[in-house]
Amino acid sequence: MQSSIQADKLVLEVLVATSDEHAGWVYLVGAGPGDPDLLTIKAQRLLGRADVVLHDSLIDPRTLALCKPGAKLVDVGKRSGKRSTKQTEINAILCAEARTGQKIIRLKGGDPMIFGRAAEEIEALAAIGITAQIVPGITTATAVAAALGTSLTKRGVARAVHFLTGHGADGGLPPQDWVALVRAGGTIAIYMGSQSLPGLATHLIEAGMDPTTPAIAMESATWAEQRTIRATIGTLPRLAAPFRSAGPCLFLIGEALRTTQAHTTISQADQGTLSPETPARA
Ligand SMILES: C[S@@+](CC[C@H](N)C(=O)[O-])C[C@H]1O[C@@H](n2cnc3c(N)ncnc32)[C@H](O)[C@@H]1O
Repeated sequence: MQSSIQADKLVLEVLVATSDEHAGWVYLVGAGPGDPDLLTIKAQRLLGRADVVLHDSLIDPRTLALCKPGAKLVDVGKRSGKRSTKQTEINAILCAEARTGQKIIRLKGGDPMIFGRAAEEIEALAAIGITAQIVPGITTATAVAAALGTSLTKRGVARAVHFLTGHGADGGLPPQDWVALVRAGGTIAIYMGSQSLPGLATHLIEAGMDPTTPAIAMESATWAEQRTIRATIGTLPRLAAPFRSAGPCLFLIGEALRTTQAHTTISQADQGTLSPETPARA
């Protein structure tokens, strides 16, 4: 009796494994900020099984090398200032691939649910009757915090973290209640803010932020080209100017950043320190 139950269980497991092997699916997968070591185990496993991978431009080649041999890789990336694929085109490509019934990954930098336009892709798939599954990734703000060795929240100092985009639908700075933002306190993480940084800093200071509030720019976080500038909100636009046309850059602003593990102090940075650095490898 016991062995027949075990045999049934085995048959069922084989059936499940076999049917899963041939079933199609669509996953929106977070690739993290760059370093492939920061992928989740689930992301790595799925990359090894996908037939088609539609990926952003800023994906490390070592991450793409985890795809199975023969997988179709399509760069549907969008880079600010360069020729980009429109979101509607990406949705159309994604739906066309999903309709083939294969295993599809839409691979996105960082976390798909943070400034990744995941909602539009999930809706487009839902409209053709396909449910997207999501695998989270490490978002840039937390990767930068880790690289700095500083916490974005700090007891008694920073009780909130605000994720902001510096890039509105019309390409300019998006509307924001700056006074409410400054009054709320906490740490501000700005994505896609390179072009709008001077305006953004002016708004924050005019809304009452102390111009000496610590601010950090990190370019190409976790990549070999990673560079950091430590400044204040008053000096950041001038000091971070060299970053504006290079790699992706994230800005962090707030009192929680006053002490970081880093060797460069805020006052040194105010004199214009620019530190190219190689991210530590375990
Ligand atoms: C379209 S948003 C995507 C954000 C992504 N979904 C995430 O969770 O990090 C792109 C912006 O993320 C930031 N970013 C992405 N990767 C980065 C990196 N390795 N270093 C610094 N900033 C990065 C930059 O601000 C860039 O303009």
